[in-house]
Amino acid sequence: MSHTEKPRAADVAATGGWSGRFAEPVSERVKRYTASVGFDRRLAQADIEGSVAHARMLAAAGILSPRDLADIERGLAAIRGEIAAGSFAWSLDREDVHLNIERRLTELVGDAGKRLHTARSRNDQVATDVRLWLRGAIDAIVRELVALRRALIDLAERHADTIMPGFTHLQVAQPVTFGHHLLAYEAMLARDGERLADCRGRVNRLPLGAAALAGTSFPIDRERVARELGFDGIAQNSLDAVADRDFAIEFEAAAALVMVHLSRFAEELVLWSNPRFGFVTLADRFCTGSSIMPQKKNPDGPELVRGKSGRVIGHLVSLLVLMKAQPLTYNKDNQEDKEPLFDTVDTLVDSLAIMADLVAHGLTANAQRMRAAALEGYATATDLADYLVRRGAPFRDAHEAVARAVRHAEAQGVDLAALPVAELRQFSPLVGDDVHHILTLEGSVASRDHPGGTAPSRVRAAAAAARASLPPHNATEE
Ligand code: ARG
Repeated sequence: MSHTEKPRAADVAATGGWSGRFAEPVSERVKRYTASVGFDRRLAQADIEGSVAHARMLAAAGILSPRDLADIERGLAAIRGEIAAGSFAWSLDREDVHLNIERRLTELVGDAGKRLHTARSRNDQVATDVRLWLRGAIDAIVRELVALRRALIDLAERHADTIMPGFTHLQVAQPVTFGHHLLAYEAMLARDGERLADCRGRVNRLPLGAAALAGTSFPIDRERVARELGFDGIAQNSLDAVADRDFAIEFEAAAALVMVHLSRFAEELVLWSNPRFGFVTLADRFCTGSSIMPQKKNPDGPELVRGKSGRVIGHLVSLLVLMKAQPLTYNKDNQEDKEPLFDTVDTLVDSLAIMADLVAHGLTANAQRMRAAALEGYATATDLADYLVRRGAPFRDAHEAVARAVRHAEAQGVDLAALPVAELRQFSPLVGDDVHHILTLEGSVASRDHPGGTAPSRVRAAAAAARASLPPHNATEE
């Protein structure tokens, strides 16, 4: 239909819930541009749950008749079934998930369907849906996070004695145990879990009742709806309730940190699986081959975890920019919150699950290669300096003496431990006959025997403490 023609009644009905106000239907391009049903249908179950709670409250307050409530509940249950079965006819003309479901409800149950939107707006409805959906998504992410933490703890315990070089500046620094290194990631993910739980508390507030922005003239009971939907309370200010998406932004921030942590681990796996390191072997199902180079085995799984951290960081920035300088209250801009949020959740769930599977079942540590690397970079030089300090040298003097000893050993192409005692004594008269004991890798890690240290006994204790902090097994992984 050209824009000069007068719209027919059927077209007007198709413009949405405001048709009487409009002289012509929305153009096809604008319809496609403004519709969100292509992606927000993912909120359908939350939308129905919210509508049921809203309708029950309206009926309890005497705003809806018991009969209307029964019709609405019946209709929504049928719609839930249609959506689950894939037979629901999503329509672009009905713009978004909310109008699609409401129109279908009216087709199914008549006038009761038209009464559902009493004391409600799509503004408080969509904010409620997103919060309900995100709450469930956070729980799913935390389950995957816990599975990865458990896998890290298990592997760390098995490698409490496995020695590898610890790095700073990617140069060999001091010997550490592989278990200790793995538990560093566990510690990061434990904090990520705390951040997500903290954020969930602020996600879990009910916007419904704010209506379009100012509240409603009907005698609603917001607390009742909050209880029924499992919210911790109501979003207090009606304007704020429909306007802000800070709950989504802080989720994005927590999610971005999860991905940043995973990206560091993924990057180490990529490095360690390179034959130059050879610290780990990754199971074939996490890798792919090359279409041209027959010898290649590429660590695609970890590489993509590393790569996908970029999109999640991008989504955080998207939402911050989306919200910046928006005048109160709801603006259509907010419709743009969904795709970044959905993609973030999908990316986190997949990345965490892949890393958990990899750590639990797909990673072989090559203790010999780790040990050989730890023996190469004068990793126990600090131990020698500490030894001289215990024998009376000021630390700075000890540091200088050992630095000269390292230079000497390097010129000979040998490790400090390969130098005879007499040769070492040239650099400090405090060097005793027992010096070689402290130059061993085992002696070095065992001496770091304090809370948070890399001594095998401390790593075992840290693993046990970390395991005790996890939620019970069956509560987190079904
Ligand atoms: N699809 C919309 C969104 O996602 C729903 C709310 C629309 N509200 C409105 N006043 N147009 O934000």
